[in-house]
Amino acid sequence: MLGMAWAGSRDFVHLYLEPPGWEASPGQFVMLRPSAWGFDPLWPRPFSICEKTPEYLRLFIQVVGRGTSLLRSAAPDSEIVLWGPLGKGFRIPVQHPLLILAGGMGIAPFVGMCKTHPHPERINLLFGHRLGLEHYPLDELPGKIRKESMHQSTPEDLVDFSGVLQERIRDFAPRGEILACGPMPFLRVGQRHVLESNARAQLSVETRMACGVGACLGCVIKTRNGEMLQTCVHGPVFDARELVLQ
Ligand SMILES: Cc1cc2nc3c(=O)[nH]c(=O)nc-3n(C[C@H](O)[C@H](O)[C@H](O)COP(=O)(O)OP(=O)(O)OC[C@H]3O[C@@H](n4cnc5c(N)ncnc54)[C@H](O)[C@@H]3O)c2cc1C
Ligand code: FES
Repeated sequence: MLGMAWAGSRDFVHLYLEPPGWEASPGQFVMLRPSAWGFDPLWPRPFSICEKTPEYLRLFIQVVGRGTSLLRSAAPDSEIVLWGPLGKGFRIPVQHPLLILAGGMGIAPFVGMCKTHPHPERINLLFGHRLGLEHYPLDELPGKIRKESMHQSTPEDLVDFSGVLQERIRDFAPRGEILACGPMPFLRVGQRHVLESNARAQLSVETRMACGVGACLGCVIKTRNGEMLQTCVHGPVFDARELVLQ
């Protein structure tokens, strides 16, 4: 059980918790459940570890439904139960250039990693977003990171965004590793261009989850060889060549 403090706006919140005694790698996540929920909602909710420092564990949360609304309205001194770190995170080859593809809340797992990376000048970030840029913590990333953002206000804009993604992935492919996180349509487009360009890429997939620990089969995802894998224990980060994204 951990105390908590909030920051941010009504729909985009930064939750700061007392730092737990474990270390985590970027892309790992926690399951979180306020004690006040009782039996309703029944299931905890998964969130990426945004940043972990000696002072705090930080989650970056968009309010989208019942659980996140209830979480947002919880009193600052209320208690939540959290377990983690869960799943397999990104492998970060620090000597190689990185191209990060983040769509909306897909920025969350990269914040702490970008802030502590020993060579931020080797990181390129392409950020796709539907809502205003002011909601996302891009400004706090190191200035040496080459950042590019693209606003997608209509579904048709995904076509333009896809063109830019294709170009960036094709140009970057021979140089380093691509890391991606975002909504499924974003990941599908990214995966298509990654495969076309024969790039090395890892994708973090945010399927719906109930238990978060491999006990319920609520989060299965199909692989190219026809296997069904549980995202919570085999992922959420997978090799881009492994998955069939539906
Ligand atoms: C590994 C992992 C990491 C995540 N990291 C973050 C994070 O850092 N920040 C963040 O804000 N969210 C993150 N999410 C998504 C977050 O878990 C959901 O938004 C949250 O559980 C919604 O709970 P709710 O009760 O408010 O919404 P619900 O009332 O359950 O659903 C509201 C709407 O959101 C959709 N939804 C719910 N869960 C998901 C999901 N997993 N993927 C896509 N759509 C969903 C539902 O289909 C519905 O339309 C992550 C999910 C996973 C699996
Ligand atoms: S969420 Fe239960 S098995 Fe993955």
